[in-house]
Amino acid sequence: MKHVVAKTDEIPPGGRKIVDVAGRSIGVFNLDGEYFALRNRCPHQGGALCEGKLVGAVRAELPGEFEYDPRLEVLICPWHGWEFLVRTGRSWCAPEWLRVKSYPVSVETYPVAVEGPVLVVEI
Ligand code: FES
Repeated sequence: MKHVVAKTDEIPPGGRKIVDVAGRSIGVFNLDGEYFALRNRCPHQGGALCEGKLVGAVRAELPGEFEYDPRLEVLICPWHGWEFLVRTGRSWCAPEWLRVKSYPVSVETYPVAVEGPVLVVEI
């Protein structure tokens, strides 16, 4: 089922909006014009994950050699610091088995009284 959650101009690049959809708290993020939605409940102990800080990622192929990706796409849970990728909902440290629920987001335009395109989350 689709739910209109925001006008696109409510969430600028790098921004987010936390919405209630069918009794679920969901964070909708704008990463350089692409939108993603994550459940605002950390799989660790239920913290408000989507209120956490967005940071870049450090990757290392070999010990002592690392590369910093400055795109702010890693979300840090404000309770204990577990990290998740906004694009996938997967854990930064254990992506194979740990993730937060993510939802499809689309930008749609409706011929109604609302002006401009809106963000739609499907749950
Ligand atoms: S509740 Fe999120 S890291 Fe513990």
